[in-house]
Amino acid sequence: MKIGVLKETQKGEKRVSISPKIVKQLVDKKFEVLVEKNAGKSASFKDSDYSSSGAQIESRGVVFKEADVLIKINPFDADDLKLVNEGQILMSQLFHKSQPELVKAIANTGASAFSLDAMPRISRAQDMDVLSSQSNLSGYKAVIRGAYEMTKIFPLMMTAAGTITPARVLVYGVGVAGLQAIATAKRLGAVVEATDIRPETKEQTESLGAKFITVENETDDVSEGGYAKVASEDYLNKQKEAVNKSLFQADLVITTAMIPGRKSPVLITKEQVDQMKNGAVIIDLAALQGGNCELSKMNKTVIHNGVKIIGTTIAPESVSTNASDLFAKNMFNFLTHLTEGSQFKWDLEEEITNATLIVYNGEIRQNGKID
Ligand code: NAI
Repeated sequence: MKIGVLKETQKGEKRVSISPKIVKQLVDKKFEVLVEKNAGKSASFKDSDYSSSGAQIESRGVVFKEADVLIKINPFDADDLKLVNEGQILMSQLFHKSQPELVKAIANTGASAFSLDAMPRISRAQDMDVLSSQSNLSGYKAVIRGAYEMTKIFPLMMTAAGTITPARVLVYGVGVAGLQAIATAKRLGAVVEATDIRPETKEQTESLGAKFITVENETDDVSEGGYAKVASEDYLNKQKEAVNKSLFQADLVITTAMIPGRKSPVLITKEQVDQMKNGAVIIDLAALQGGNCELSKMNKTVIHNGVKIIGTTIAPESVSTNASDLFAKNMFNFLTHLTEGSQFKWDLEEEITNATLIVYNGEIRQNGKID
């Protein structure tokens, strides 16, 4: 079976779906690997790194023509699909729920397609979960970006010229990105507080040495399948009461609160920003889905009342080498799960296969059933 690793074409993307180290592991498992020329260049992997790991470097046209499995990070686009052949297997993120036209276009090629972002959140799928491996890096980088934007340092520092008090960091949303943001800010010496709608995150926050801000809430059923549900108006009001004191003292606020497939909840209003400290920075990682701060604008820095509000996804491409390494390892684990002796098992009843196989031989599947 031939695996084709495609160069990412999406603007700004610097990652690659398979690293040279994973090529070696695939070759050991008797897969042949074709890598598009310069595919790893922006992630600091040279073509020669791939070829010495056992891959063949080929043109884009040859990879599309010869590979049985085509691998990317970003969804296949219309240009890619012109080159896809019946019977090929596409593996990438597809965000299929918001892209029905793309799914139809894939089905029209007669190919099969797995979507990595549809991975179920069960423990045995953890090492295949690209959303998780990439969000972790975003959480780290959000703190570094915050450090760069702030006019203060993080740690307590006693010097002959006086004592610098530690910066105060507040994190909204203790999921994968939020937990890494807490850990990173703690390591840099900040005083860190965090809040989340899911009560189980209290213990996780405290295990990292940060303070958890609990929102008293007896009425709401807040989570489903490990993800948060949409918070009620009542919860959001109680959250403001519980968090405002910390918000108004914070030097850096990192917001990561998201609801899968929904607009992000507004957790910081303009009126709250009005009461924040001059020079404070908000890094809003939920900006792409509307933002956790009412004033956030995606890919923009808004300054309001002396507070810098930065709307960004802090895409993991800003640490493209690590992000590619982790994505590649997730992909390898996924391929290992789906295959036996380098052939696909097509066990359609199996939970992970069922959830991630979106198109099977040109037929669109939904919840495991062909439409
Ligand atoms: P996410 O990106 O969907 O949301 C980030 C955080 O925001 C979540 O912790 C959520 O509870 C919180 N949030 C949502 N609305 C909020 C509100 N109104 N106020 C405060 N907080 C709010 O979540 P993420 O990071 O993708 O992960 C969620 C959970 O799933 C984590 O506990 C993680 O450990 C778990 N997970 C499990 C996996 C597995 O078992 N295979 C793989 C990846 C994650």
